[in-house]
Amino acid sequence: MHRRHFLKTAAMATAASMCVSRGGAAPQADAFIEIMADEGLGEISPLLYGQFTEHIGGVIYDGLWVGEHSKIRNYHGLRAELVDHLKKIHVPIVRWPGGCFADSYNWRDGVGPLAKRPRHANFWEVEPDAQRLHEQGPQIFEPNEFGTDEFVRFCQSIGAEPYLAANVRSLPSLEFDHWVEYCNSPAGSTSLAELRAEGGSHDPYKVRWWGVGNESWGCGGNFLPEDYASEFRRYSTWIPSFGVDLQLVGSGPNDNDLDWTHRFFENIFGSNHPYDNRHFKGWSVHHYAAHGEQALRFEDSSWYQVLKECDYVEQIIEDQWSVMGQYDKEHRVRLVVDEYGPWYMEGTELDPTHIFGQQVTVRDALATALTLDTFNRHPEKVCMGTNAQLVNNINALFLCHEDKFLATPNYHVFGMYAVHQGGQALRANFSAPNIHFNHEGKSSTLWGLNGSASRKANVITVTAVNADAHSPKLTRLKLRGMNIQQVTGTALFAADMHDHNTFEDPTAVQPATLRADLSGGEVNVTIPAGSLVKLELTVG
Ligand code: AHR
Repeated sequence: MHRRHFLKTAAMATAASMCVSRGGAAPQADAFIEIMADEGLGEISPLLYGQFTEHIGGVIYDGLWVGEHSKIRNYHGLRAELVDHLKKIHVPIVRWPGGCFADSYNWRDGVGPLAKRPRHANFWEVEPDAQRLHEQGPQIFEPNEFGTDEFVRFCQSIGAEPYLAANVRSLPSLEFDHWVEYCNSPAGSTSLAELRAEGGSHDPYKVRWWGVGNESWGCGGNFLPEDYASEFRRYSTWIPSFGVDLQLVGSGPNDNDLDWTHRFFENIFGSNHPYDNRHFKGWSVHHYAAHGEQALRFEDSSWYQVLKECDYVEQIIEDQWSVMGQYDKEHRVRLVVDEYGPWYMEGTELDPTHIFGQQVTVRDALATALTLDTFNRHPEKVCMGTNAQLVNNINALFLCHEDKFLATPNYHVFGMYAVHQGGQALRANFSAPNIHFNHEGKSSTLWGLNGSASRKANVITVTAVNADAHSPKLTRLKLRGMNIQQVTGTALFAADMHDHNTFEDPTAVQPATLRADLSGGEVNVTIPAGSLVKLELTVG
């Protein structure tokens, strides 16, 4: 048996034996979960479980696109293994083509016959990480082999909706209208619909979600919020809709910059010329836990610090929501967290071409899980989330190079959590002793256990993260308002906090069955140290 598998099995056995009550008395619990079955918080939008893909490093080329003539198994150029995996986890939406790349991208370069598509310098050519590529390759000179048709086909093949980001920095607003027309005008109705048909689709793509720029405070134009508000008005006024209920996403703050949100919303809703656009539905937020270390080189304090930085997304959601509500009184606009994840220093990318590529450990899986739990707890505020990024990049679900491919622990998180999509979020309390740690000379605190719960028909799903890297938590779960009839459990954890999947050992970190005991109407379960777990309660 592989060493890690042995340790994992041993840990499960210890966890299970701790659940056995002595002499019939319930064991002493370290942690408690209380779920209110009749206190719904709102429907968890399936779109919270989306992904982000950008023309950067190995995301598109070498990642999801290998080309039709590749020796690597593919579906019309799309990496087959990646498509097959994604089908299993129900990805609802994918964002493309950026990111910063979007505001330097001309969608026309990526449509029409492949042989005629132009080559242009990629936005990321200037990135210091790109210096190692010595001005060579598709990461530097964008070949436009992968464009709108290829992206939409990718989405269709995995059952996801496309979410496109328009270029506000360097294309006129008419080009935004025309991109919408290319995607959505009825078969044969416009010259662009005919061009789309040549690209493989008579039928319109009916793209609903459109970002109006990306990071317009930075790479998307370095605008002041007032100026971006004017651009937003211009780009979003009278876009052709072709019967599609367009959902426009404004480029929101850098992290929790409240000033950007105040000044933008003031200029849209609060000015003496209010702008009432019913398609304005989303306000984009990006939150990275940027860390000055490599993904695999860390100690306890960094484990906790990264989780704490990711956990800050809850504060961002609450603060931004409160500012938005001062202007958008009915809260017609909801939050779209379309970039998030821990971001480390270069050094663990699997190939030099993978700009921002990094390994993904069990710590990153916990960071992703706690972010998804946070979204679930705020279903009225957050309508979409897209993880940055799908493959060979910051917080990837997959790492691949040429014919080698693996699913990271993050992939398993999305697999375990998919069942929350469309469920009714339930109010829940998670309590365990706080964790106190010291990071770079500063003392800090993080909760010990946190999570979320949702209900679909007669199944309540509870997901939780035990942030404590060393102590399992003997946890008692009570359900208020309904009876638990049956419980099953799944856990993702590792013997060592640095564990990750490699081409040699692609299943080192993967979900395992977790024993959970139902007695006296309550569940007793030992949540392993440094783990994320899912409990599925059949209720009556
Ligand atoms: O995800 C990488 C980059 O991070 C994106 O292009 C940009 O939007 C953000 O700054």
